[in-house]
Amino acid sequence: MKILLLYGTTEGQTRKIAEFVAAKLETYGDSVALVDATASTDSIDLRTYDAVIVAASLHAGVYQNSVIHFATANSSWLNQLPSALISVSLSAAGTDPDDLKGIAACADRFKTQTGWTSADVHQIAGAFRFTEYDFFKRWMMKVIAWEKNVKVEPGKDLELTNWEALATTVDALRARFADKRK
Ligand SMILES: Cc1cc2nc3c(=O)[nH]c(=O)nc-3n(C[C@H](O)[C@H](O)[C@H](O)COP(=O)(O)O)c2cc1C
Repeated sequence: MKILLLYGTTEGQTRKIAEFVAAKLETYGDSVALVDATASTDSIDLRTYDAVIVAASLHAGVYQNSVIHFATANSSWLNQLPSALISVSLSAAGTDPDDLKGIAACADRFKTQTGWTSADVHQIAGAFRFTEYDFFKRWMMKVIAWEKNVKVEPGKDLELTNWEALATTVDALRARFADKRK
């Protein structure tokens, strides 16, 4: 299959996740176009792909503008193709029902805002990337870690992405994509 995998990232974890997903799909023999959403995406023609995956991370409840722009501009094709949204956040790492409801609401808002209403959403845990934060973000994320009882070490990144679970998600996604093409 020819698959477009477009990602938006602020501190880099979603890029790492997208690279992992691409490598996993390639084990099926798929041809994967891995595209950073901040690159020029206007010339992308979705008609040339069999399926599309968009990965983006949440910051203050919203995904990257570049991803919103792409999804809005391509919503009608995204609704017709087998497609999925990989939503990366820290709330996805926990079990707090309010947090989980919150990230589901963010994805729903994105679907309404962009018109990509068929998006099949997968919530994936991201990372604390202290090495990428400025002073203010570092302080804020330390408070969040403390509130959530997550032990962080000064100046060290903490990855919460469950790679095994992500691999299982990709297998299921791939099976659904292949099924839709029949
Ligand atoms: C300033 C800031 C705001 C964030 N806001 C949220 C949020 O609203 N909900 C959430 O669950 N995680 C939030 N996060 C956590 C990020 O989604 C998480 O760190 C993710 O791994 C970032 O992915 P990226 O490195 O690809 O940008 C926030 C992180 C930062 C630094």
